Amino acid sequence: MAKRVVLAYSGGLDTSVAVRWMIDNLGVEVIALAVDVGQAAEDYDVVKERARAAGAVEALVVDAKEEYAAEYCMPALAANALYENRYPLVSALSRPVIVKHLVAAAREHGADAVAHGCTGKGNDQVRFEVSTRALNPDLEVIAPVRGWGMTREDSIHYAYDHDIPIVATKEKVYSIDDNIWGRAIECGEMEDPWNVPPPGVWLLTQPTATESVDVVVGFDAGVPASVDGEGLTPLGVIERLNAVVGSYGCGRIDMVENRRVGIKSRETYECPGSLALILAHRDLEGICLERDLQREKARLEPRYAELVYDGLWFSPLKQALDAFIAESQRFVTGEVRLHLSPGSCEVSGRRSPHSLYDYALATYDAADEFRHEDSAGFVRLWGLSVETWAGTQGHLGEA
Ligand code: ARG
Repeated sequence: MAKRVVLAYSGGLDTSVAVRWMIDNLGVEVIALAVDVGQAAEDYDVVKERARAAGAVEALVVDAKEEYAAEYCMPALAANALYENRYPLVSALSRPVIVKHLVAAAREHGADAVAHGCTGKGNDQVRFEVSTRALNPDLEVIAPVRGWGMTREDSIHYAYDHDIPIVATKEKVYSIDDNIWGRAIECGEMEDPWNVPPPGVWLLTQPTATESVDVVVGFDAGVPASVDGEGLTPLGVIERLNAVVGSYGCGRIDMVENRRVGIKSRETYECPGSLALILAHRDLEGICLERDLQREKARLEPRYAELVYDGLWFSPLKQALDAFIAESQRFVTGEVRLHLSPGSCEVSGRRSPHSLYDYALATYDAADEFRHEDSAGFVRLWGLSVETWAGTQGHLGEA
């Protein structure tokens, strides 16, 4: 039985109640760890205070924003990772970095278990537990919320009865998870997939800008490194694009997705920065990657996104794909111009010192250097097997 537990702590109702519940029901000491991956408007002094008031022996905060941007968001960007072709893996990407810090804190503070506040219906429990086992199989994983059988009402009462300070008692309709890569909003009236998401759910994509603007994103070996010529860290680029792209109301996603546990779930997301970066990055690859490499990479990208979604960030296949993708990015250097206008974000130009776009081959005007005479023989041989088939079997028809 565990004696000391490091809990992934958000400061919300469930994890606050979980602190006290584990102390009372499992007889453990709880260390609360909040990992800052860029959640909106979080005051971490208040979060720490709350954890201690709930009974935590220690309340820790780690600022993981730069690390998360560079080591988690950037590889996902290099992979153009979109789950089911649409979702840039906001929550799925943050769990492995949170787990990394949980496991490190457990080692540092002599804990023999880690805990999370996920329910049994979601993907996040999968990501927490599989990642923990990958990093340290000796740690026990405790999931109090999954087992305690309390409704939200019960939890609120539990908090009152045990003097646990909770944020607000007002009806909390939505389940929200956010970080620099985007924001996920679920539940409430959106549980009916036909219902229009109420305007109040959107925070990062409020259209306030009215004048069109061009934004130039510079990439260095697949990593965005500047915006409009100003050198920035990956975090800096993401934050800049979240603000500007979001102000044009771009980056919303409304979809029904397949969770790992077999449930179809209606999800809304707002991901202005990440979607704009993927759009720009993929476009730049269009001039920097040789055709076969580009196509094979495109075949692997959905698989990469599935692995991340399914909690397999720390896994041998994901590692091997990272190596392939990293190799593919060597020459993905250059600039992409994004044209933003209310409700739209489009690529309007791309250039690269390593561009494979050859004007002399592509042009239809006098500068043309393409050897037109080569095409006749090529096309003839290209179609030879079909021509042979047509002359022997094809003309026999259906029979
Ligand atoms: N459906 C998304 C995912 O599985 C978002 C999950 C959001 N998590 C949350 N606790 N609200 O990645």
